[in-house]
Amino acid sequence: MPDTHTPHAGDDRAADTDVVALLIRQHGDIRNLFDEVEQSSGEERRDAFRRLVRLLAVHETAEEEVVHPWARRSTPGGEGVVEDRLAEEKEAKEILSALDEMDIDDQRFLPQLRRLRTAVQQHARAEERYEFTHIRRNADADALAAMARAVKAAEAIAPTRPHPGVESAGANVALGPVAALMDRAKDAARKAMGKG
Ligand SMILES: [Fe+2]
Ligand SMILES: [Fe+2]
Repeated sequence: MPDTHTPHAGDDRAADTDVVALLIRQHGDIRNLFDEVEQSSGEERRDAFRRLVRLLAVHETAEEEVVHPWARRSTPGGEGVVEDRLAEEKEAKEILSALDEMDIDDQRFLPQLRRLRTAVQQHARAEERYEFTHIRRNADADALAAMARAVKAAEAIAPTRPHPGVESAGANVALGPVAALMDRAKDAARKAMGKG
């Protein structure tokens, strides 16, 4: 596999001290992974899709556990902004779960993937515009760093690569259900914030 591919979630070694920079970088990785899934086929598409599902699951879960609660409490108009973001995330997660149960060869796969992409990208833009800018203005360096640590803890919850021999067994065997990934990411984020 060419090494031009988007890094696996959890393979990110940057010393993140700013949660906003970290999340915006993940938005970029997510966008690139959608490109990789759309432009590949066969095993390569399956692999790219698996990485996309994992990154989306940990990214959205970390935002729900770490940054949305902070924005709700500590930014002007935070309550309404966060409600809108949560509704978008709920829609994206529903499409993601449906897709995750589908094989990449299913004829419904690409249309659903494009639906997910549209939803996820509109959501990411809204986060950057209406939420992240306020977090940057209102959070001090300690808060930005503590939130970054919790997001990274969520990201580190599962092996980034499937075990040898498991990969060829089927679409998403190594990944497990999206819901289980999200549960583990949630626990890790809570623990990192001292709520575990
Ligand atoms: Fe989000
Ligand atoms: Fe996001």
